[in-house]
Amino acid sequence: MLDLFAEADPWLEPLAPGAMILRRFALARAAALLAGIDEVAAVSPFRQMVTPGGYTMSVAMTNCGKLGWTTDDRGYLYAPVDPMTGSAWPSMPAVFQALCHDAAVAAGYADFTPDACLVNRYAVGAKLSLHQDKDEPDLRAPIISVSLGLPAVFQFGGLRRNDPLKRLMLEHGDVVVWGRESRLFYHGIQPLKPGVHPQTGEFRFNLTFRQAAESTK
Ligand code: SIN
Ligand code: FE2
Repeated sequence: MLDLFAEADPWLEPLAPGAMILRRFALARAAALLAGIDEVAAVSPFRQMVTPGGYTMSVAMTNCGKLGWTTDDRGYLYAPVDPMTGSAWPSMPAVFQALCHDAAVAAGYADFTPDACLVNRYAVGAKLSLHQDKDEPDLRAPIISVSLGLPAVFQFGGLRRNDPLKRLMLEHGDVVVWGRESRLFYHGIQPLKPGVHPQTGEFRFNLTFRQAAESTK
């Protein structure tokens, strides 16, 4: 008999050259990923970083892995030490590494090994303005982004800030991968709409995996 209530298998949605959405790819591991976020935040708490221009970001952030993305009064940088605790960032939970590996393989980026994972937490109204991920020295490595909790509208453009934008709803368990031709494409998140998600309450979480150190290959 056809089981109408079975969870759909993940499916792949092409986004741009080198970019795709792996819909619901992280769904089966969502609870473990959320537990991992709690562990990370217990060591390096979420904080709203201040940009070099003096603007307090609406998204709260932390990191895990060898390097963490952060700001100081000169700019954006990857640092081995959390400036808030003065200690190394927590290591990447095994479930993060496994999910990232499997998503990279599914997306055709088999040899991607992330050394940094930025963890974003969006409360109602929080947004990420259009930007490029360009603080990484080796642009051959893709970006892998995992969405958990409340849905949000993701904007994905092109190499120039004013290229036309696609707007896509990212839902619990969706994974976006961009690299190669689209590695430097502009992207952002529109202000989070209010809601309550059974697993994350009033929040959306996002993990972005990066290779932030110079390649040794
Ligand atoms: C990012 O651009 O770093 C995060 C995007 C997202 O929250 O989905
Ligand atoms: Fe980004």
